[in-house]
Amino acid sequence: MLVSGAGTNLQALLDACADPAYGAEVVAVGADRDGIEGLARAERAGIPTFVHRVSDFATREEWDAAMAQACADHDPDLVVSAGFMKLAGPAFLGRFGGRYLNTHPALLPAFPGMHGAADALAYGVKVAGATLFVVDPGVDTGPIVAQAAVPVEDDDTVETLHERIKVAERTMLVATVGRLAREGFAVEGRRVRIGS
Ligand code: GRF
Repeated sequence: MLVSGAGTNLQALLDACADPAYGAEVVAVGADRDGIEGLARAERAGIPTFVHRVSDFATREEWDAAMAQACADHDPDLVVSAGFMKLAGPAFLGRFGGRYLNTHPALLPAFPGMHGAADALAYGVKVAGATLFVVDPGVDTGPIVAQAAVPVEDDDTVETLHERIKVAERTMLVATVGRLAREGFAVEGRRVRIGS
């Protein structure tokens, strides 16, 4: 699992994984920065962590390769990024393409990029939400695995809307990752099918 911040999505997965029937376990948590609550959550749960900061590498490509290697060292079936604020590059996608998932706080393909919830609110949509997708080389363009919708209220701020999105996002992430682990999945063009 990859994080850059609060790690509430990570926490939801860690809580779910406490039940063996859930069918998945978090084998490691990686980050692009130190001192974040996401890493503290992993440490409290006794999960190995690693940090690679872009600024510690001569090039973005070297950082990307180091992230890929650090993930590979833990031999995950799936890599899930939630609130990980970096784009994976060719080395990472070469290793984990097709099994690297990201959760985004908007109903893609609307509002890709760094500010999904804010952009949706500014646009004036009445329904917002979150999208779990298979990462491809584009920005939030990969095949969609699952989505969850929430209403936008008249008095919403970016914070209240994003918080409502995050509640639905965590539920969607936990339910979907569990199904992916238990049932498997296939990506056929743009369509993702869970189960056989
Ligand atoms: C999530 O809404 C994610 O989609 C977005 O940032 C938030 C991260 O939340 N990119 P957390 O770190 O899991 O609490």
